[in-house]
Amino acid sequence: MTQGFTLWLTGLSAAGKTTIAMALEQELLGRGLRIERLDGDTVRQGLTRDLGFSKADRDKNIERVTYVAKLLSRNGVGVIAAFISPYREARANARRETTNFIEVYVATPLDVCAARDVKGLYAKAFSGELKEFTGVNDPYEAPLSPEIIVHPEHDTVAESVQHILDYLEAHGFVPAAAIVLNGNKA
Ligand code: ADX
Repeated sequence: MTQGFTLWLTGLSAAGKTTIAMALEQELLGRGLRIERLDGDTVRQGLTRDLGFSKADRDKNIERVTYVAKLLSRNGVGVIAAFISPYREARANARRETTNFIEVYVATPLDVCAARDVKGLYAKAFSGELKEFTGVNDPYEAPLSPEIIVHPEHDTVAESVQHILDYLEAHGFVPAAAIVLNGNKA
């Protein structure tokens, strides 16, 4: 059985966390690994749908996700978690609680995220209509020593995913990609 791990992507809204997490998930599933992806956008429709965006609620959101990641990662599952998770202490707790925690800082600058504004939330936050919006009128505590930093503003999704895969392979969390020999996977 391969080792479980908790790969934790943190960054601003619209930084590219979900896109990278989904592409990485597809790659690892394609290698036959046991993977679960946990994402703020979906988890908040179920497990944490009772929560908003105050510090207390964000802490509860991350605490519940940490608990799920703990159960999965200690049983050999590779967890890919994608949450803004703006508070260092909540991420430090996830690191303490889960197996093989790897922090990935999705370091897209605020102006790039705001220019993308896929969901129109930055516009609402800048106009004051939306309170407690991360990076605009609510804090984001960037990681101080993440294992991995990706830069979606100047790297492609494939490059960011490859950067993460290199780390996972180098640390033995996933086997190196199969080499194709004579048309058969080695
Ligand atoms: S976290 O802060 O608790 O980690 P999470 O990643 O689960 O946040 O959810 C963030 C998503 O919720 C954003 O991508 C965005 O679509 C939505 N959202 C709605 N209101 C806010 C807000 N005030 N701050 C940040 N994200 C918000």
